[in-house]
Amino acid sequence: MDVGKVVLAYSGGLDTTASIIWLREKYGAEVITVTVDVGQEEDFAEVERRAYRAGASRHYTVDARREFVDRFVVPAIIMNGFYEGKYPLGTALARPLIVEKMVEVARREGATAIAHGSTSKGNDQVRFDVTLGALADDIRLVAPVREWRLTRAESVELLRAHGLEVPEKRGQYSIDSNLWSRSIEGGALDDPWAEPPEEVFRWTVSPTVAPDTPEYVEVGFESGVPTSINGERMDPMTAIHVLNGVGGRHGVGRLDHIENRLVGFKSREVYEAPAAVILYEAHRDLEKAVLTPYELRFKWFQLDPTWADLVYRGLWVEPLREVLQSAGHALNRYVTGTVRVRLYRGSVTVVGRASEYSPYSRDVADYDKGWYLSAEEARGFITVHSLHSVMALKKRRPGHGPV
Ligand code: ARG
Repeated sequence: MDVGKVVLAYSGGLDTTASIIWLREKYGAEVITVTVDVGQEEDFAEVERRAYRAGASRHYTVDARREFVDRFVVPAIIMNGFYEGKYPLGTALARPLIVEKMVEVARREGATAIAHGSTSKGNDQVRFDVTLGALADDIRLVAPVREWRLTRAESVELLRAHGLEVPEKRGQYSIDSNLWSRSIEGGALDDPWAEPPEEVFRWTVSPTVAPDTPEYVEVGFESGVPTSINGERMDPMTAIHVLNGVGGRHGVGRLDHIENRLVGFKSREVYEAPAAVILYEAHRDLEKAVLTPYELRFKWFQLDPTWADLVYRGLWVEPLREVLQSAGHALNRYVTGTVRVRLYRGSVTVVGRASEYSPYSRDVADYDKGWYLSAEEARGFITVHSLHSVMALKKRRPGHGPV
């Protein structure tokens, strides 16, 4: 099949480098590579050299860090976006933006197809394909690794045969990273019983060798958005950078779980995300201090997990995602204040919070002084409070046996 000009999402890694070769040889394509900088801290000049060496006719590096933070990561902070309570969604959040940038390049270059190096067993292919279909259904999608079922060993062989060096990818692991989280899969991690070897981590030290002195950090939020660290104002991107550094030094943010992939099976996933973990703990604590119980329950148990599921499942384009996000923003209007956390040997613990919008009143809470209910008021409240349950119980257990 002849595909003409193809725009390929290029990371510089094994699968995408093999894809350049396949697109040229098997599809007779002219390959334009695009590397989107979402904070993965690559040597982008080296990535570009690799693209040209493998046969790309033109290479683009697109700095999308600011946009990634503003349009994807900040909403994830507000929506407490942790898939199945554990995964900060870094990879899932970046995919739709990468596709947007590729479509821009495809239009500029007059390309008729877009390609990615995803396999048929992962979530990323779904995110790529769904987003492309939604944004540009006139552009063809080609996925060489998926279509030709290239194994990693075959990709290595292909690169060697073309005299290309095999990118060091910590060997056996498949790694995807951006400023929000680092995802590590495969190799030794496929045994869910085996503890992740130290070599897979890059942002965090092992909690066992972290400093024996705790470090306290104050995170300031305005309407749910982090805007200061230890009293110093900074934009969310800088705050994330600072927290990744300080969290990493204390071994905070190593995540390890069994994840329900959207392609139908469970996989063992390991992540590193110090800033995401600290912000999740701090932001949720501040929401607890500010929101009414009704707002809190609705957001935490309905909005937030639904939002995270849609993002994980590649449905960033789903209209409901935007509706949930607007509701989340509205509910965060008064989530302004400061949270104090303690970082110590792999743990992050909230130890203090303050907000001018918190209904918390020390006067009301104090046992001995201030506001109180009379004994009669308290009894009346408890009678009414329990009436539904007690009346139902009397019908169901007439003998009043133990519940
Ligand atoms: N399980 C995560 C997700 O589905 C991480 C994916 C990592 N991708 C990769 N190409 N290594 O978002």
